[in-house]
Amino acid sequence: MNKKVMTIVIAALIVIVLAIGGFMLFGRSRSVGLDSSIENQDGAVGNTTLDSDRVLVVYFSETGNTQKLAQEIYEQVGGNFRRIEPVKPYPTGADLFDYTEKERDNDERPEFKDLNINLNDYDYIFVGYPMWWYTLPMMMYTFFDTYDFSGKTIIPFNTHEGSGDGGTYETIKKFEPNATVLDGLPIRGRDMSKDQTDTVKKWLKGLGFDEKN
Ligand SMILES: Cc1cc2nc3c(=O)[nH]c(=O)nc-3n(C[C@H](O)[C@H](O)[C@H](O)COP(=O)(O)O)c2cc1C
Repeated sequence: MNKKVMTIVIAALIVIVLAIGGFMLFGRSRSVGLDSSIENQDGAVGNTTLDSDRVLVVYFSETGNTQKLAQEIYEQVGGNFRRIEPVKPYPTGADLFDYTEKERDNDERPEFKDLNINLNDYDYIFVGYPMWWYTLPMMMYTFFDTYDFSGKTIIPFNTHEGSGDGGTYETIKKFEPNATVLDGLPIRGRDMSKDQTDTVKKWLKGLGFDEKN
């Protein structure tokens, strides 16, 4: 192999490692921490043109990054706010990785606590989750198995450490073929320690949900 080809091969390998395995290298310790004082809420009025009465913001988060993003979205769009909470708490630290890898390999459907919602009450459902093992957490598979989103508009958002949305927005479209799935918002988990107000505002505006005058 000549020098040029070698350089290209090495560069390509670095790109692949960062794209696929970036989270393994950088993602394990960067999180804002789950805030258990952030409770589910009902009936907040948002500051966009979306009708808050018909909005649900629902999220799963284990180490707080997605929770923080969900909270920012909720502050802007209002409606009802729900955390998807596992019935059986996940292990922490390194054990979380082993446990959830097995959960994914076994295609499990872990249970979540009752969300106290009636989907008929909503037209717009913002759904948030972290990337886990290049896909949605299996908890989110349970979530999409549980509810039928036909006729609803799903607006996904997620945090990650290198995978972006990793094709999960397309997966959601496959789960819910009779729903409209709008363009989602992927944000790096480590960036959740910074203020994301403007990023969320811009995203919402791009979806046609302008700020109220
Ligand atoms: C078990 C596990 C698996 C993960 N897998 C990925 C992944 O495949 N791709 C990625 O970009 N980040 C991955 N991450 C990083 C998380 O997506 C990222 O830290 C996220 O912000 C965590 O969100 P949370 O704080 O709301 O739980 C993983 C993290 C954990 C704990």
